[in-house]
Amino acid sequence: MRSLSGMVVIITGASAGIGESLAKHLDAAGARLTLAARRKDLLDALPVSADHLRMSVDVADSAACAELVAATVARYGRVDTVVANAGYGFFSPVADCTDDQWNAIWRTNVMGTVALVRAALPHLRRNEIADRWRGQVMAVSSGLARRAMPDMAAYSATKAAQLSFCESLRVELRDERIAVTSVHPVTTRSRFFAVADQVSGQVWKRAPGLREPVQEVDAVAAAMVTAIRKPRPECWPYPLARWMTGLGSLWPSLGDRIMHRHRRRPQAQHPPAGD
Ligand SMILES: NC(=O)c1ccc[n+]([C@@H]2O[C@H](COP(=O)([O-])OP(=O)(O)OC[C@H]3O[C@@H](n4cnc5c(N)ncnc54)[C@H](OP(=O)(O)O)[C@@H]3O)[C@@H](O)[C@H]2O)c1
Repeated sequence: MRSLSGMVVIITGASAGIGESLAKHLDAAGARLTLAARRKDLLDALPVSADHLRMSVDVADSAACAELVAATVARYGRVDTVVANAGYGFFSPVADCTDDQWNAIWRTNVMGTVALVRAALPHLRRNEIADRWRGQVMAVSSGLARRAMPDMAAYSATKAAQLSFCESLRVELRDERIAVTSVHPVTTRSRFFAVADQVSGQVWKRAPGLREPVQEVDAVAAAMVTAIRKPRPECWPYPLARWMTGLGSLWPSLGDRIMHRHRRRPQAQHPPAGD
């Protein structure tokens, strides 16, 4: 088990949702944190120790990701764990999805992960091995990494890309004892879908009668804490989803049928941001 007390952890997307909950869990366990997101006012208002470093960072800017890592090392002298959590999604049928929408989500969800991890890697490599590990990279992907959702091709593709990135990196770093963990939440109660509706310009409703598993952010964060203490290749906070998406990979026509039945539909225009 890795000890959380004194561990230096960078969390992106810490101003809300899963990242905020993870910050609270790790703060309570005595970790030293760097909390990053674009909205610094929300980071400043988090009910965690005032000693943690808080930075306004847009992860789509790779230079800003490098500055985030450099500032962490300047403050704490090391980095033990990096959690690439910042991300968003939106709804759009492939035929309607613009180049700008594809590029923007790719820059945040994928290149934001890549830039953070590349900046942190030299520092993780410098650490001594402690509790069997030199350090850890964690990326918050999604259950959709294994089975894409209709009308969410761009988002699903970014989550699959994060999974591929982690699978490759994990084996590259195996001999150096740097753990790499991808996290695969199912639908989680956060601002995620409100943001998705806002970016989409429409409110998308679930299929009537659909009983999909929904988790709280605390349950997801608790599973992530367990995977930080005891690193594993993949973290599935709702374990059944691993088998359901695995079945969908083995039997794609069944996956298609289920996804078709559960397809969300646009219900209304989203009010302009700020309303
Ligand atoms: N909620 C779900 O159902 C669900 C399911 C599977 C996977 N996930 C994944 O879980 C992660 C966290 O999502 P969540 O549910 O916690 O959503 P959320 O409540 O909307 O939080 C998203 C976080 O990411 C930050 N963020 C977004 N774009 C950013 C950027 N360009 N630069 C820096 N920070 C940025 C936001 O902060 P600022 O706006 O202040 O920058 C916020 O802190 C995402 O990667 C998402 O894909 C969510």
